[in-house]
Amino acid sequence: MAASLQLSFKPSLQPPKSVSNSAPKFSRVRCSAIAASRSYTVTLLPGDGIGPEVISVAKNALQLVASQEGVDFKFKEMPMGGAALDLTGVPLPEETLSAAKDSDAVLLGAIGGYKWDNNEKHLKPETGLLQIRAGLKVFANLRPATVLPQLVDASTLKKEVADGVDLMVVRELTGGIYFGKPRGFGTNENGEEIGFNTEVYATYEIDRIARVAFETARKRRGKLCSVDKANVLEASMLWRKRVTELASEYPDVELSHMYVDNAAMQLIRNPKQFDTIVTNNIFGDILSDEASMITGSIGMLASASLGESGPGLFEPIHGSAPDIAGQDKANPLATVLSAAMLLKYGLGEEKAAQRIEAAVLDTLDRGYRTGDIYSAGLKLVGCKEMGEEVLKSIECKVAAAL
Ligand SMILES: NC(=O)c1ccc[n+]([C@@H]2O[C@H](COP(=O)([O-])OP(=O)(O)OC[C@H]3O[C@@H](n4cnc5c(N)ncnc54)[C@H](O)[C@@H]3O)[C@@H](O)[C@H]2O)c1
Repeated sequence: MAASLQLSFKPSLQPPKSVSNSAPKFSRVRCSAIAASRSYTVTLLPGDGIGPEVISVAKNALQLVASQEGVDFKFKEMPMGGAALDLTGVPLPEETLSAAKDSDAVLLGAIGGYKWDNNEKHLKPETGLLQIRAGLKVFANLRPATVLPQLVDASTLKKEVADGVDLMVVRELTGGIYFGKPRGFGTNENGEEIGFNTEVYATYEIDRIARVAFETARKRRGKLCSVDKANVLEASMLWRKRVTELASEYPDVELSHMYVDNAAMQLIRNPKQFDTIVTNNIFGDILSDEASMITGSIGMLASASLGESGPGLFEPIHGSAPDIAGQDKANPLATVLSAAMLLKYGLGEEKAAQRIEAAVLDTLDRGYRTGDIYSAGLKLVGCKEMGEEVLKSIECKVAAAL
């Protein structure tokens, strides 16, 4: 049932017109579940730190919208990261990978923590992350950066610069310098120690990520900016050539090119000029973090990693936040929004996804904030309470529609 690369919808989070600034009255009507007509298996990987806290909230949201949409979810919770290291001695046990592969979609919390920081590389929780991406063959990482009107003040940019930003970074995830060979350490002609890596892209790798990006742009505002360093790097020259050639297949998408150094500046100077950005692994790593910070909080940002077939991997962009783990302080909304991406991009359940997105906006409209997005005069809540308020918003929307 998995449907990766289902891009037949507008991947954009905009406030619903019906959302008001006043607190709605909750009738606490639990809508009677519609008989399930579609069934999906979702592998949950809570991981470490705040991972289990935020996954629990997202699972509840998925369950509630599923009952409203006549969808049946079978959840399979599996260990990964530090939790898996403690249990099995490896960061990604075979059982976890095969459960993930056999499912329709995978929802990951976060991995990592101080306890495993000094482990050898192959025994680090982060290695499990690279392994699961490789195992699921997910090559396209989609990271939306949307400045919600309710949180525009959380941005470090001036309000007039941040207001209305709604962009998507499509990052190539399995190629380029992070995986290219040769790599390693050696000695140069002066006898000095050197470290080296290789930026390499084959045509098929560029073509498949470019197609995802064109499709994504087509469903958004029809603008695609390809970011490279074609004035210096051969791999970027090929990148630009292929993206330009493929553009003829997408005449409805306006393609532009930008060097990465300029893109880094333009994202801060005038981020509203961007709709969809496509770029390689390393530039995407950096630019997607930069773009995300325009929105103000790491606790709000979701992501999707998709392959050509098989289940997609959906996760918040934040880490395991060991500094606040177990204290009920985490913002669960990035994971809740990742669950909405799972519904949209992984399963094609767009209506269910919209219910979750609308509920998140409604919860923010009603003034609920975790510490990371709190400002004076609003209601400071913990992870659990934020989750309960999201559920109320999901219910309330249904009650209003009855
Ligand atoms: N995909 C992943 O699982 C992933 C990603 C990044 C880092 N990590 C791992 O996470 C661990 C901690 O890394 P880090 O501190 O650099 O990054 P981090 O994202 O975990 O935390 C950075 C800061 O943001 C805060 N924060 C993060 N998520 C939050 C949330 N949902 N709500 C409120 N505040 C939140 C944290 O409290 C911290 O102050 C490391 O072991 C790292 O390797 C994992």
